[in-house]
Amino acid sequence: MFSSGSKSTVGLDIGANSVKLVKLDHTKDGYAVAAIGIREFPPEAIVADEIRDREAVIFNIQSLIDQTDPKIKDVVVSISGHGVITDRFTIDKKTGAEAEQAILFETEQRAPFDIDDVSLDYHIISTNDEENKMDVLLVAARREYLAMFLELIQDCGLNPVIVDDDSLAIYNSYINNYDVDPTRTTALVNIGHDVTNITYIVDGQYQSTRDVSSGTRDVYDAIQKEFRLNPELTNKAIKGEMQDSVDQDMLKATIIAATDELISGIELAFSYFKSQAKIDNVEWLVLSGGGALIPYLPEFLQSKLGVPLEIANPLRNVDYDPELFQYLQPEKIAPLLSVPVGLAMRKTK
Ligand SMILES: Nc1ncnc2c1ncn2[C@@H]1O[C@H](COP(=O)(O)OP(=O)(O)OP(=O)(O)O)[C@@H](O)[C@H]1O
Ligand SMILES: [Mg+2]
Repeated sequence: MFSSGSKSTVGLDIGANSVKLVKLDHTKDGYAVAAIGIREFPPEAIVADEIRDREAVIFNIQSLIDQTDPKIKDVVVSISGHGVITDRFTIDKKTGAEAEQAILFETEQRAPFDIDDVSLDYHIISTNDEENKMDVLLVAARREYLAMFLELIQDCGLNPVIVDDDSLAIYNSYINNYDVDPTRTTALVNIGHDVTNITYIVDGQYQSTRDVSSGTRDVYDAIQKEFRLNPELTNKAIKGEMQDSVDQDMLKATIIAATDELISGIELAFSYFKSQAKIDNVEWLVLSGGGALIPYLPEFLQSKLGVPLEIANPLRNVDYDPELFQYLQPEKIAPLLSVPVGLAMRKTK
């Protein structure tokens, strides 16, 4: 067989606003981008995790594959929101079939899911040899939702080799790009169009995740209405590309007024986390997703939450040839790529 010696994985992130693809070569030195692309869906083709215009979604995914690398078949995909539930628990250290038995038993004891309705997967987050314990993260996908989602991927002519969870992908892309500071309770906050995924890191380790059902759609709608723009121009204004024709003070006021629900959702999630995990404060916030790119939003979020904030760069530790991006500028769009980069960092057979 002819082999270049490096394996590659394709991460395909199907979001409410756009589909993003990142293909990473797994080299002996780390990761290198082999292909990359983004394509926006028509407004409302996907709303939250509901696919409303299946044909448009399939067409845009296929077009993105054609534009980036038509040979792609195997993809790592992810689900989030109502389709998936995560939970975490500690059990005695075990391996193989014994571990699976114990995890299944533990799962059955736990509300709110009925084991017959979900497909389960788990990750061992850490093991404590002294106490002979291990921390398990459970990912349960609603069977019906998973089946619908897999059928969609297959109808695009693709083969879903792994189904991951958005929050885990965000966590993966973070730990592969940054040295985690174990002294700082960190929240990875990925603000999408309809969903904001929050992943907490405590003592340098994955702690838990929470999805907030709010994103930048309100900002999009407010800009469209305030400035009476068509979808294409709204997308430009939201990216800060209409400086000449849109009054910037008015744009700032519109954006800030439209983030109320989003910011209270994040505040509520933080206070819930603090009381559950018995933690005084979130000390560091790493922002990704489209929300990280909307003008004025990161500064406003930082001032409202009172938490120091950094914009994520999921390509920080990844090699890439700027030519590959063509019209996309990596330094500008990198925060959008947390999920697809995290997915493409998964090892597949
Ligand atoms: N440069 C940019 N490119 C694309 N989207 C941008 C950019 N700047 C701001 N945005 C805004 O970010 C939002 C999309 O964010 P993102 O791509 O993270 O969402 P999504 O993954 O499609 O949705 P979700 O995760 O909620 O399903 C849109 O409202 C979009 O207008
Ligand atoms: Mg997303």
